[in-house]
Amino acid sequence: MKKTTPHWIAIGLLVSILAAGAFKVIVLGNTEKAEDGRTSVLLEPAERQAVLGEMRMLLETTQAIVEALANDDLAAVEAAARPIGSAAIATVDFSLRAKLPLEFKKLGFGTHYAFDDIANMAKEGKPAKAIQIKLSETMNNCIACHASFQLPAATLK
Ligand code: HEC
Repeated sequence: MKKTTPHWIAIGLLVSILAAGAFKVIVLGNTEKAEDGRTSVLLEPAERQAVLGEMRMLLETTQAIVEALANDDLAAVEAAARPIGSAAIATVDFSLRAKLPLEFKKLGFGTHYAFDDIANMAKEGKPAKAIQIKLSETMNNCIACHASFQLPAATLK
């Protein structure tokens, strides 16, 4: 019977290619260095529009929460924050997720979870000031992500 020796070099190469692929998908996403020093996340036009639409929703939600807090209207705080909480993560499809770098996902998902916290604090009747502090901490995610990433248009290559 012919003895087959495993082709360790070929196996090693294959494993490194797979590891590099996994690193790219999980950590780097579909990115390149932008001219202004940030990282460009390269998306298809429809995906980019979906992300930017979600961004405008985040801004609207933030405004609604600031207004509701000023009016001491905790029901309105909860109503504004709840839809943009973790429930909104389910709408991000998997091919888009694969293009987002790990840091982007951490900041993005973290922001959705923070809105869950805000909705829960309002539901539990926490003081408006405490919710305001939570919102201001949450907005540090907006700042950090905008400082690191951009979404250039016309990225199909
Ligand atoms: C995970 C990263 C991330 C987080 C967190 C994030 N953003 Fe963004 N946002 C972006 C990127 C990237 C852009 C595109 C910026 C660019 O291309 O220069 C953007 C764009 C926007 C825009 C412009 C939308 C448009 O139509 O062009 C608004 C408004 C916005 N973000 C609001 C917010 C607010 C408010 C928050 C926090 C509550 C937030 N974002 C949190 C990444 C993020």
